[in-house]
Amino acid sequence: MYTGLLHTHSLVRWLMLILLIMSVFRAYNGWKSRRTFTPGDKKLVLFTLIFSHVQLLIGFVLYMVSPIVQSALADMGSAMKDKMLRFWAVEHIAVMILSILIITVGNAMAKRATSDGEKFKKIFIYFTIGLVLILISIPWPFLQTGAGRGWF
Ligand code: HEM
Repeated sequence: MYTGLLHTHSLVRWLMLILLIMSVFRAYNGWKSRRTFTPGDKKLVLFTLIFSHVQLLIGFVLYMVSPIVQSALADMGSAMKDKMLRFWAVEHIAVMILSILIITVGNAMAKRATSDGEKFKKIFIYFTIGLVLILISIPWPFLQTGAGRGWF
């Protein structure tokens, strides 16, 4: 189960990133060109949100079954002094939860906005912040935290 979840979590990252980047670009263009907020825009934002929440759920299950996290949680005192264990026990989960929270709040703010321009602006700002936080918290293969891990 652990390996399957890890692969799924790794793949869903790409779907999430593609949807988030598309949402950010579309929101920026919509805001700057002052166009109408269409059902297509709404659908894209909705799918971005769904995939973010699916990733969050998979992440929670992984957190409970991951041997790395378990070994960190067994001795948090020493884990906090170890860069890798601290990343898996605290940093990855904290920043990812924060980023998905920001995306979710952005969607709620956009829903409440009274004009289409405001909707696009809220989505653009909140989703961009979420995207940047996610990008810096992914254990990319070229980082120490992602050493030995794949791109997919
Ligand atoms: C935007 C959301 C997230 C993205 C893009 C993301 C991305 C990733 C990636 C790329 C990996 C490495 C997969 C691999 O080595 O094949 C990973 C591992 C992991 N993630 Fe996430 N993650 C996200 C959210 C979360 C959340 C919210 C949690 C916890 C609640 C979490 C917990 C974990 C755990 C426990 C591992 C595996 C550690 C191990 O190797 O045992 N992730 N994540």
